[in-house]
Formats: sequence, C-alpha cells, structure tokens
Amino acid sequence: MSFKRNILCIGAGYVGGPTMAMIAHKCPQYKVTVVDINPDRIAAWNSDDLPIYEPGLTEIVQSARGRNLFFSTNIEAGIRESEIIFVSVNTPTKTFGAGAGMASDLQYWEKTARQIRQNACSDKIIVEKSTLPVKTAQAMKRILTCKGDDIRFHVLSNPEFLAEGTAIRDLEDPDRVLIGSNETPEGMKARETLVEIYANWVSREKILTSNIWSSELSKLVANAFLAQRISSINAISALCEKTDAEVSEVARAVGMDSRVGNRFLNASVGFGGSCFKKDILNLVYLCRRYDLKEVADYWEGVVKINEYQKERFVLNMLNAMFNSLANKRICLFGFAFKADTGDTRESPAIFVSRQLIEERAKLVITDPKALENAAFDLKDVVEWITFEEDPYRAAMECDAIAVMTEWNLYKDLDYEKVFHSMNKPAFLFDGRNILDHKALFQIGFNVFPIGKPPLTHF
Ligand code: NAD
Ligand code: UGA
Repeated sequence: MSFKRNILCIGAGYVGGPTMAMIAHKCPQYKVTVVDINPDRIAAWNSDDLPIYEPGLTEIVQSARGRNLFFSTNIEAGIRESEIIFVSVNTPTKTFGAGAGMASDLQYWEKTARQIRQNACSDKIIVEKSTLPVKTAQAMKRILTCKGDDIRFHVLSNPEFLAEGTAIRDLEDPDRVLIGSNETPEGMKARETLVEIYANWVSREKILTSNIWSSELSKLVANAFLAQRISSINAISALCEKTDAEVSEVARAVGMDSRVGNRFLNASVGFGGSCFKKDILNLVYLCRRYDLKEVADYWEGVVKINEYQKERFVLNMLNAMFNSLANKRICLFGFAFKADTGDTRESPAIFVSRQLIEERAKLVITDPKALENAAFDLKDVVEWITFEEDPYRAAMECDAIAVMTEWNLYKDLDYEKVFHSMNKPAFLFDGRNILDHKALFQIGFNVFPIGKPPLTHF
C-alpha cells in the first residue's frame, strides 16, 4: 500500500508514543514510524504490554499498529524514508558543567540533529516536539545545514501540551495545537503541511500558528503558569493551617471568579512530574542569561514553594507523631506523581520516602501502577521498604498512612477495616485532600489534611 506521507518520530517515550499513535489512528493515509535508541522500549511498543500506562492508549495503538503505525530501532532508515520528522527525545535538566541543575541538557537533541543530517538524502521538515529553550530551532537549523549540500531543512516548533493520565483525551480533543515557523514563504509552506496533518481531526480555529520563538517560549510559559497556580494555592495552604481557614473553601471562593477559574487549585503535597520543575528552571536559566534577575527570581519562587511544601509535609508528620518516627511503620498510599499513570518522575513520594527513611521509619509502599518504578527510584534504600500491591495488606500494622497519589481506589476503601488492622494511635496524612476527613476521624484516625485544621483525638 502506498501512503500519502511518511512521518517519523525520533523518541518513543511518554510523548512520542501516544502522539504518533493518535496521528496514525486518525490518519490512515499516512505511514507513521516511531524509532528509539532503546530496543527494550521498542520491543514493548510492539507487544501487548506497552512501556507506559495511559488510559485508552492500548486501544489506539492496537487500532493502527501494523497498518500504518510502526515501531522500530532502525533510525537511519526511518530518516531516509520520511519527509516529516518529529523529534521527541528527552531534554532533562543538565547535571554537569555550566547551568547544572537549571539549564536543559540538549545532548540527546543535538545527537538527533546530527543523525538526521548524516542520513538525510532529500528535503525534510523537522518538528520540535520536545520542550526546548527558546532559540533552539536556530541551533538545529545551523547543525542541519552545515554540510553545505542542497538538501533543505525546515524547522518547526510544535510543543506538546498533553498531561499524563489524560494523554489520549488531550490528544483527541486538544485545547489548542501550536505550530511555530519562520515567517518566510518556505517556513509558511512547511507550517501548512503540519497544519494539514492536525486538521484531520482538530478544528482549524484550535490550530494556532505563530513565529517560532513565540511557540518555543509558550510551552515553557504554559507549564510555568500551571505550576504557579499550584504553588500559589500550596503557599496559601500553609497559612490556612495557621489560621483555621480551609484551603478547599478558599480555592472554591477564589476559583469561582471567572477571571481566575477553578482548575489547578488543588492544594497537595507538591507537584511532581518530569516537566514542571525542569521547564521552570529552564525558564529561570534563560532569564538569568538575559540578565533578567527579577524575572528569574519571580519564577524560581514557584519551585521553591514546591520544595517547601514537600518538606512541610514531612515535618508535619514528624511533629504529629511525637517527633519520633524511628522504627514506626508508615504506609504510602500511591507513589506515582499523579493518578492514572505509572510515571514516578519527580514524584513528591520520592522526597517524602527519603525523608522518612532519614528518620529511620520503615515504609510500606502501595500503588496500582507504579511499584516497579518506585523500586527503581528507591533502589539504594530498599532495605527500609516493603512493596505491596494490596492497600489493605499494606496498611496492616502501620502507625500511619500518607496519601501521596490521588488514585480513586483510595477513596473507596473500607477505612473501618483499615483502621482496625493498624497500630494505635493511627494517623492519616492526606497529601491530596481526597478522603472524607470527618468520617475518618469518627472511625478513630487522627487526620491531618493539607491546608485544613487537623482532626485529632488528643
Ligand atoms: P521520555 O524519556 O519518556 O522519552 C524520550 C525517548 O527518547 C526515550 O525513549 C529515549 O530512549 C529516546 N531517545 C533519546 N535520545 C535518542 C536518540 N538520539 N535517538 C533516538 N531516541 C532517543 O521523555 P518524554 O516524557 O516523552 O518527553 C520528551 C519531551 O517531551 C521532553 O522534552 C518533555 O519535556 C516533553 N514533554 C513531555 C510531556 C510528558 O507528559 N511526559 C508532555 C509534554 C512535553
Ligand atoms: C503537565 C501539564 O499539565 C501539561 O500540559 C504538559 O504538557 C506537561 O506537564 C509536560 O509538559 O510534561 P503532567 O505533568 O503530566 O502535565 O500532569 P499535571 O496534571 O499537570 O500534574 C502535574 C503535577 O501537579 C502532578 O503531581 C499533580 O498531582 C499536581 N497537581 C495538579 C496538583 O498538585 N494540584 C493541582 O491542582 C493540579
């Protein structure tokens, strides 16, 4: 069968896999190939046990795989055969040299650019799907064109806004698709090619086009604004705990102002995930590089409040449990950075676990999807931890439960049964404010929500 276009995506991760599966699912006329340097990841994409858990993903992959969706390790062939190449490799925070701990580590990105240049033998549209510092497209273009032959490369920016756990819904019905390009006739033509792909299922009004630098910057700013809302309400949660105000009531009152809106105002143990912290630090680094100290400090505050919130959570536990956690058994309900994903990158549960272990507590960690990742994240302290899939068994003979992830299953447990199996006094720290605190108190728990007065029997 001949396809209208050959599309390649380099990087088969949380973004590359689902986004390409959606394009293939919606556009049977295109051949979509996803490649990665990690052969295990590719093998998993070709199996029934996909490498990431995402509701609805298996069905979408199965609808297209082998028809017009292919997963492969043959990056060179993929480059040769495609006219459009999405690059969705990881762009973590740099851990060495200049900008360590702040700037993006662009080594995977640059390696990909060089590989494209080496293997391309016809004109290509290169699409930045990864989140990148503003002006990366310029570096990309320079690497791609330095060979001096007459192959033409057009670099577009098309940042991804999906959230994990809702990736399929977000891809199927996005708030917007953003495509940035050079505003030259050739740039506009390349942009139109990409617009046409999305227009197969996204209405044209939702496909925004802009200059390439605005597009790159918008992605960093979108994540910074979302994280800022969480840090704002988390900062207020600390004040609520001192003043007997209730943070959920404050959030509701504030969020009902249509100018503010009610989303992303759930106080929590802190935000996690692979991107918020990394992208804000990247923004801070950029501001510093352009000598915008005040702007950099302003955004850095969002990350600082998040660190403070996680620390505060552990200190509250310590304080409530008579300033001693040594040899106490503490059960963590959830380890994923949010519900409906097995991803644990930057999960607040990692920080909380490590701090509790510093206090010599013994941990029992339960999570419906993230136990394997949790065991990997904590491999150096594993002798302090038991991993247990069943939450009832996990809580047995524990002194405290700390809710780390807002999985629905924790809302529906029989807490009478849980309470009776625990050591007394039994403590419950709700890091997500998802449980019925009054009911838990009546059962006998000492309950410590976020941003609300505790309910204790002392
Ligand atoms: P990921 O780590 O899950 O996937 C990246 C993949 O790229 C890995 O499988 C890795 O093996 C592969 N890779 C690295 N170098 C390669 C190379 N030279 N050739 C081929 N493959 C290579 O990362 P992710 O979560 O998918 O994120 C990718 C990008 O998308 C990041 O820039 C991130 O900021 C951005 N983003 C992520 C999300 C999210 O929800 N995870 C959402 C929006 C944007
Ligand atoms: C986030 C953005 O929502 C996506 O638009 C973006 O594409 C993505 O980052 C990215 O660039 O990687 P994600 O990190 O997957 O998506 O998940 P979110 O739903 O944003 O949650 C992030 C963290 O904030 C989670 O730990 C979550 O529990 C926490 N959160 C969220 C709160 O503590 N309170 C809230 O009100 C909302």
